[in-house]
Amino acid sequence: MVVKTPPMGWNSWNTFGPNINEALIRETADVMVDSGLAAAGYNYLVIDDCWSEKFRDEQGRLVASAEKFPNGMKAVADYVHSKGLKFGMYSCAGIFTCARYPSSYGYEFIDADTFASWGVDFLKYDYCNKPAGIPGHLLYKRMGTALANCGRDILFSACSWGADETHKWVKSTGAHMWRSTGDIVDNWESIKNLTNRQIELQPYNGNGCFNDMDMLVVGMHGKGNVGVGGCTEVEYRTHFTIWAFFNSPLMIGCDIRNMSEETKSILMDKDIIAVNQDPAGRQPYQAIAHPDYPVWAKHMDNGDIVLAYFNLGEHNFNQFVTWADIGIERSSGVKLELTDLWSKQNLGIFDTGIEFGAVEPHGCRILRCRVVRG
Ligand code: GAL
Repeated sequence: MVVKTPPMGWNSWNTFGPNINEALIRETADVMVDSGLAAAGYNYLVIDDCWSEKFRDEQGRLVASAEKFPNGMKAVADYVHSKGLKFGMYSCAGIFTCARYPSSYGYEFIDADTFASWGVDFLKYDYCNKPAGIPGHLLYKRMGTALANCGRDILFSACSWGADETHKWVKSTGAHMWRSTGDIVDNWESIKNLTNRQIELQPYNGNGCFNDMDMLVVGMHGKGNVGVGGCTEVEYRTHFTIWAFFNSPLMIGCDIRNMSEETKSILMDKDIIAVNQDPAGRQPYQAIAHPDYPVWAKHMDNGDIVLAYFNLGEHNFNQFVTWADIGIERSSGVKLELTDLWSKQNLGIFDTGIEFGAVEPHGCRILRCRVVRG
């Protein structure tokens, strides 16, 4: 199975943590479709940690919690599929999951077969409580091989938080996306930290196995499992823009049953999603490297170039980028026609560069630039 664009969907962890059950998952599946999220591309519904009993059955298989999922996981998967969505689950490479439920170490083939028999399409695979002496790459190879031989296409989402130099080995394991960061929490400091961590990891990003910056906190407003403080709407919009621009999987983490119009308009912006889902999946790079006021660029499949200015600092700050910074020399006579992707305004044709203007702290501007030949 080859994954060509960053996966999109919803994951239970950020808001619900251990408080998950069949009714919540069914309601969430309904809302994914009815709200337009599914049509916008969010098609994976993923149940994170804390879904199982604390014991395996007599055949050594994982068992869904009878209290949370009384009809079993196959029934949940069937419902999710009946809505036209894909179904994701969670396990871990260690002896226990992070929340100390049974985990897949030593049971990789049995568990991959169980997930396949339930109709699972996506497996998030964590890194807690791993046995001493076995390197991470082998733990992920075990499950990667089991999934590739379970008879069903299951997207493999590695979640070792970038630990143990994950970037050097993760693509050899069969992973389709890999957590290149620690856990997100719902505040600006976390968003800024995770963003800065990506600068050195962009060379490892791209088609087939995308750098996963963790689930989105857009729309959480400080509520739920990782709701530590909350963000402003400006910060949520910048967070979404960064994740989309950096080719991160877009996994929603808020309670989508109660989304505000503002949250919907951020999560469903088709121009920003198109930047994320570009078929080329090229690595973004810094056109202007600055710790607080960087300008990033990404070259798109159709020849356009996307420029993104992220104000990670605490002051209004005007940045300037020249076309020479992104590989277009003045002598070529080539100009760029700019569209502001959030305001939807066509800004016209620019000869040699653009001033972004005084972007507010924690704000951003993202411009799609069409090449105009002389
Ligand atoms: C963490 C992981 C989180 C979540 C949690 C569940 O290790 O990074 O995204 O899955 O475990 O316990």
